[in-house]
Amino acid sequence: MAAARNQTGLVLGVDSSTQSTKALLVDAATGQIVAQGSARHPGGTSVDPLAWLDAFDRATDGLLDRADAVSVGGQQHGMVALDADDLPVHDAILWNDTRSSAEAVDLVRELGGPDACAEAVGSVLVASFTATKLRWLRNHQPEAAARTRRVLLPHDFVSRHLAGGEPFTDRGDASGTGYFSTADDAWRPDLAESALGHPVELPRIVPSTQVAAMTANGTALAAGTGDNMAAALALDLGPGDIVVSIGTSGVASTVSPYRIADGTGTVTGFADARKGFLPMATTMNAARILDLQARLLAVDHEELGRLALAAPPGANGLTLLPYYDGERTPNRPGASGTWAGLTSSTSREDLARAAFEALLCSLADAVDHLVACTGVPPGRILMVGGAAGNAAVRALAPAILGSPVTVPAPGEYVALGAARQAAWALAGTPEPPAWDAAAAETHDAPPTPLVREAYAQLRDRTSDWTPTKGSS
Ligand code: XUL
Repeated sequence: MAAARNQTGLVLGVDSSTQSTKALLVDAATGQIVAQGSARHPGGTSVDPLAWLDAFDRATDGLLDRADAVSVGGQQHGMVALDADDLPVHDAILWNDTRSSAEAVDLVRELGGPDACAEAVGSVLVASFTATKLRWLRNHQPEAAARTRRVLLPHDFVSRHLAGGEPFTDRGDASGTGYFSTADDAWRPDLAESALGHPVELPRIVPSTQVAAMTANGTALAAGTGDNMAAALALDLGPGDIVVSIGTSGVASTVSPYRIADGTGTVTGFADARKGFLPMATTMNAARILDLQARLLAVDHEELGRLALAAPPGANGLTLLPYYDGERTPNRPGASGTWAGLTSSTSREDLARAAFEALLCSLADAVDHLVACTGVPPGRILMVGGAAGNAAVRALAPAILGSPVTVPAPGEYVALGAARQAAWALAGTPEPPAWDAAAAETHDAPPTPLVREAYAQLRDRTSDWTPTKGSS
């Protein structure tokens, strides 16, 4: 183990997320934010990964050269397939791209079925997992697949931009590929090979306690990790804490010292950025439910919240099943959204309310799956992500989740977690530096079980209705 070093300087934490890059320059000793930057990414579910490097450069301009260490957290799962010259053979296919859902079914079957698959890699594969995207490449772009020599995750690709040389990753993000054994804490190169059709180079796995590489300017680089693992590090989760995160994806996660292998496929058994695990239920439709509703009603998010709070619980019988872009929890990759209970007296307020209720019911389903799978008695529910700042989300979440909800002060928790990992690698200590917990408010409200019942009825009524969308 590396000897402990003094940590007095600044560290840079980066979140290379689906929609943008966010960077926080942080005091390594206290966790206080000193400066920040951000830059947008192109839209879509497949993206030229070089665009992330450009966004990284813009978001960290004036920050990177002040940092003693840097760590990149990023969207999980995306496939960055590189040729012999380390150039992308194809756009990166992101976690929320469902084109490889048939390949997911094939890979699970080849692994011996859902239980065997969960046992082998910690999760039952769905279209989000990198392995399914490799198989899609092989099936649909065989020439690009044949040229693939190396496969990286989004955060590895950005880290490498800083360090050059041999790429590296961490166990947390690696556990979302579908070719990493959570039991052995090691790659399963045979599974990457059978997904793609030939052997492929995988990045070196580095623990959070170590410096992974140095930049040309002498800045230390930590391993980086997946966005959800980084957020867990920032929030310093304890046993029973459940994080509900409302970003592009909706996530319910908790930390566990035990490996999860959920053969039902509802809970993914990821590794975390420490030595434990991060069981998680993930939805593909979260903040975008509100984005679409605000657009349809031609209001901003604040006004959408005001409209929603002016309607009664249950939105006068209006219910939305918000699986707009296909869904993963439940696994319905071909689904789209369904409205039920529209009448000629449905108001704008009802339409707004139903959108918030749909978002929160979908997240409540995710929390229920997580609690049932881990068996851990639920403690605090912490709610983070951009939408957690919306007044209607705060007011309705405790009623729909049936529990008080603690909302940490708005912040970039993925970037903050990455910064904490950078400070940790710099210190070389067995545990990450102790930083003050973020200020938080707790919200409570009487439960509204009827809202969840109406949602569950609509969800179960449409369970076998999965229209197929065009796939590229
Ligand atoms: C988790 C997942 C998403 C992405 C979003 O499995 O797919 O939360 O990490 O960036």
